Amino acid sequence: MSLNKQVLIFGATGNIGGAAARELLKRGWQVRAVTRNPESEKAFTLAELGAEVVQGDMDDRDSLEKVFDCMARLLSVQNWTSSGVEGEIRQGKLVADVAQSAGVTHLVYGSAGTGDPHTGIPHFNNKLVVEAYMRKLGLPFSVVRPAPFMELLSEKEFCPALGPWGVKPKLLGWDTPTPWVAVRDIAIAIANIFENPDRWIGREVELFGDVKTLAECRAIFTAIDGKKPLRLPLPLGLFNKMAGDEFVMMWRWMVDWMAEIGLEGLMETVDNSREVCPELLDMESWLKIKRNGGFA
Ligand SMILES: NC(=O)c1ccc[n+]([C@@H]2O[C@H](COP(=O)([O-])OP(=O)(O)OC[C@H]3O[C@@H](n4cnc5c(N)ncnc54)[C@H](OP(=O)(O)O)[C@@H]3O)[C@@H](O)[C@H]2O)c1
Repeated sequence: MSLNKQVLIFGATGNIGGAAARELLKRGWQVRAVTRNPESEKAFTLAELGAEVVQGDMDDRDSLEKVFDCMARLLSVQNWTSSGVEGEIRQGKLVADVAQSAGVTHLVYGSAGTGDPHTGIPHFNNKLVVEAYMRKLGLPFSVVRPAPFMELLSEKEFCPALGPWGVKPKLLGWDTPTPWVAVRDIAIAIANIFENPDRWIGREVELFGDVKTLAECRAIFTAIDGKKPLRLPLPLGLFNKMAGDEFVMMWRWMVDWMAEIGLEGLMETVDNSREVCPELLDMESWLKIKRNGGFA
């Protein structure tokens, strides 16, 4: 399949979509970035990097039809924390409907979880509902299922920002091997998938960059920053109220799941992830780059 290097990105002002937009722009792709607010700082930054920023709302079919004009490839990312569990399904399906009408040749879907329908985690299940819907429509798509972002441990914007070193250890334990992935690597994987559609259409890929316990993560942060990361020992009940109980539910489920898979199984997924992102960062390399000016 010969490629015209044009891609439409939903969630382009967010973590996954923003990093994917930057990676594809670096590779010479023409990026059309969708946002509800083209006047935002993040939208301006994307425009400065060369993206065509367009106004669109995943809840509004008319606006979606306009942004699809002539675009054959798209990245579809929704977020349950801002759109709600039902909103995420509704938006994912609407993007899929419009994509099908527009005759897209490749959709990459930003998913989460393991692909197992029995986790009981609403936002994991949402994504399976959207994936099943896209399958039913006959869309040519690839699924990316990232591990928890390494950025959860460093960025204040995340809902559990209050809790990486205070609340998470209560849920995960300090010594539970946990998978992580750098947002940069999700972006590289997405770009590689778009550049190799024959290889990736119809496939689902789990993305793990490293497996580290919270104790190991804390030691890495302490060594690189020269001080221990701040611990805010928030009571779980209060965290639940502030962040919503789905976070607590998810991290608790992860403990059982990780015990079932075991360290070897988790490391096997890191190895498999190299097929789509050969330059995967481990936690230490990621943090060193972050502290030395970050990612371009
Ligand atoms: N955090 C993790 O560790 C992790 C791990 C694995 C998977 N995930 C999954 O990753 C996804 C979240 O990705 P993210 O962190 O990249 O999201 P994010 O940073 O919260 O970005 C959300 C994006 O969605 C856009 N958006 C929201 N509502 C919209 C609407 N109605 N119409 C158009 N655009 C809309 C926002 O754009 P504007 O505001 O500019 O319109 C923004 O660009 C979730 O599905 C989550 O389950 C997260």
